[in-house]
Amino acid sequence: RPRVLSGIQPTAGSFHLGNYLGALRQYLVLQDTHDAFYMVVDLHAITVPQDPAELRANTRVAAAQLLASGLDPDRCTLFIQSHVPEHAQLAWVMNCLTGFGEASRMTQFKDKTAKQGMERATVGLFTYPVLQVADILLYQASQVPVGEDQRQHVELTRDIAERFNGRYGDTFVIPAPYIVKETGKIYDLQDPAIKMSKSASTPKGIINLLDEPKVSAKKIKSAVTDTETEVRFDEEKKPGISNLLTIYSTLTGTSIADLERTYEGKGYGAFKTELAEVLVEWVTPFRESTQEYLADPATLDGILAKGAEKARAVAGETLARTYDKVGFLPAK
Ligand code: TYM
Repeated sequence: RPRVLSGIQPTAGSFHLGNYLGALRQYLVLQDTHDAFYMVVDLHAITVPQDPAELRANTRVAAAQLLASGLDPDRCTLFIQSHVPEHAQLAWVMNCLTGFGEASRMTQFKDKTAKQGMERATVGLFTYPVLQVADILLYQASQVPVGEDQRQHVELTRDIAERFNGRYGDTFVIPAPYIVKETGKIYDLQDPAIKMSKSASTPKGIINLLDEPKVSAKKIKSAVTDTETEVRFDEEKKPGISNLLTIYSTLTGTSIADLERTYEGKGYGAFKTELAEVLVEWVTPFRESTQEYLADPATLDGILAKGAEKARAVAGETLARTYDKVGFLPAK
């Protein structure tokens, strides 16, 4: 079976609807067709300051949500990044293959430092994408399910993998981003010109999966639309409604054309009310299931320990081959 690998940050506590539609749903599908590795990326999280107790708690919350969304530890490998030391080890090697200018062109870093200034950025934030390169290459992943905002990091991974293979001989599988066109970018409910994101969205613009469902329903109902009344998919002229149609369509498996037909002549009110109901229906059992996993941390930690063991078996092999290729003397 071909491999897939993906990661998600634990920092916000709750995942948001963009995470779910853009990435998690693809994790679920791929666990049945691929040898799938999914992790909570706590090493990436500390590229910006974290409260230690919160980080530890949120890492469990993230793992519980992955399980609640339907990932099955018998069908995929689920683990915490810091439990597999090979990530940091391979990242060092990859740092030494990455150009300074190349890393400087990563748009996420440029956006973040544009906002907060270069002085407050850590070197870890700068090399964040290189750690991601190591994440992907360690598992010889051929596909990387992510949202559109991660495309550039997967492209960087391809470049570095090709560079390594060219210099040291065939070692790494060249990975491709696995991005679903319809849901690769879910937009902010209050500003459909920007993506839904924990750093840029206002509280009203973002649906947190662990929020009280009533709160999320309200956010759907007050989502920014346009001055027309027609429920029609048109990303340019009607970005707000188009975003809601995408969400509705993906959560229910109904095509957008069918939804347009259903809501013909009904206006935005009915459409939003029913979408709010759909969301509440989906999110309610998700929250309950997350709480159940969190109520039994011993079982949760056991799942993660097993996952780390499976991950290390693969990662250790790749790291050993890489160390050998670059010319490190084996420790005997
Ligand atoms: P993170 O934690 O920011 O986001 C997790 C996943 O959610 C996707 N996503 C979205 N998709 C659609 N619409 C949105 N509005 C939206 N917001 C977020 C992201 O694209 C991502 O797939 N650097 C990564 C984590 C990572 C990783 C990896 C991913 C670390 N190592 C290796 C893949 C492979 C990140 O910060 O994702």
